[in-house]
Amino acid sequence: MSWKRRHLLDIQSLTKSEILAVLDAASVFKQVGQRSIKKVPALRGKTVVNLFVEPSTRTRVSFELAAQRLTADIVNLSTEASSFKKGETLKDTVKNLEALTADIIIIRHRSAGAAHFLSRFTQASMINAGDGAHSHPTQALLDLYTMREKKGDLAGQKVTILGDILFSRVARSNIWGLRKLGAEVTLCGPPTLVPKSFESMGCRVTYDMKEALADADIVNLLRIQHERQQRSMFPSLGEYSRFFGLNKERMDWIRPDALIMHPGPVNRGVEIDSDIADGERSVILEQVTNGLAVRMAVLFLVNGGQHPQELPSAAEETSQG
Ligand code: CP
Repeated sequence: MSWKRRHLLDIQSLTKSEILAVLDAASVFKQVGQRSIKKVPALRGKTVVNLFVEPSTRTRVSFELAAQRLTADIVNLSTEASSFKKGETLKDTVKNLEALTADIIIIRHRSAGAAHFLSRFTQASMINAGDGAHSHPTQALLDLYTMREKKGDLAGQKVTILGDILFSRVARSNIWGLRKLGAEVTLCGPPTLVPKSFESMGCRVTYDMKEALADADIVNLLRIQHERQQRSMFPSLGEYSRFFGLNKERMDWIRPDALIMHPGPVNRGVEIDSDIADGERSVILEQVTNGLAVRMAVLFLVNGGQHPQELPSAAEETSQG
């Protein structure tokens, strides 16, 4: 096991073997999720806090379920009901969570660098659940897991990421992870949302949908991140959909065995038509399911876990104890 980190802050700083360590551990935890009793006692006695300062469905709920399946105590802190409202700083909030014996703090925040900043002040493990347009490491890891599960070794696989790349932490994290695992990455979307500067990350940039889709093994779609755009980056959603939406006609440009992925939330009829999002080539909900196993793996590893395949089930431990 090549994982020795206390925090998970981004994908950029991970080595290929660390990424593979998470994916391999996630395979073990996915099997745990298929048992009748889906729990293991890996984090018994540990306290995990979900600190989400930005909205979330998938990431927050799957971290909560992941912690429960590892037998940790989990607390969800909503900013609406916390002392943020009274002017408490993020640093003071984290120091107080630590004083309340939090072992692992999962943070989502609108500001890039929030998790990195807080990791300097706490003894708890810090997990970045998305910081501005910077990084969303567990989303990238679950995307890589899903791609590898469906397509095998990612070296040489052609992955097209389509949509709002500029404002997307998912795009940046996927690009880092895919490049480290040897995949070839193409980016496509309106020029205002896909600057040529992304070529410096080792990607091909094209504004021609046919070219972007033609040889892809995997197509990963992104929604427009309105919440991070200070001004309009294209004339209208209708126009975006007309030129860059994945519809029936454009599906004919994609190889029949190519995977269709999306991190969610999906804006149906904008970046993807409903029939395609719900179609047999879409793995969107499998990504969500895999996110649970990947987040169990991340919680296990940042807590110092080794050899997940040797964990007893919660039921076995109870019967022996
Ligand atoms: N993909 C993703 O991060 O979804 P949520 O915002 O619902 O967590």
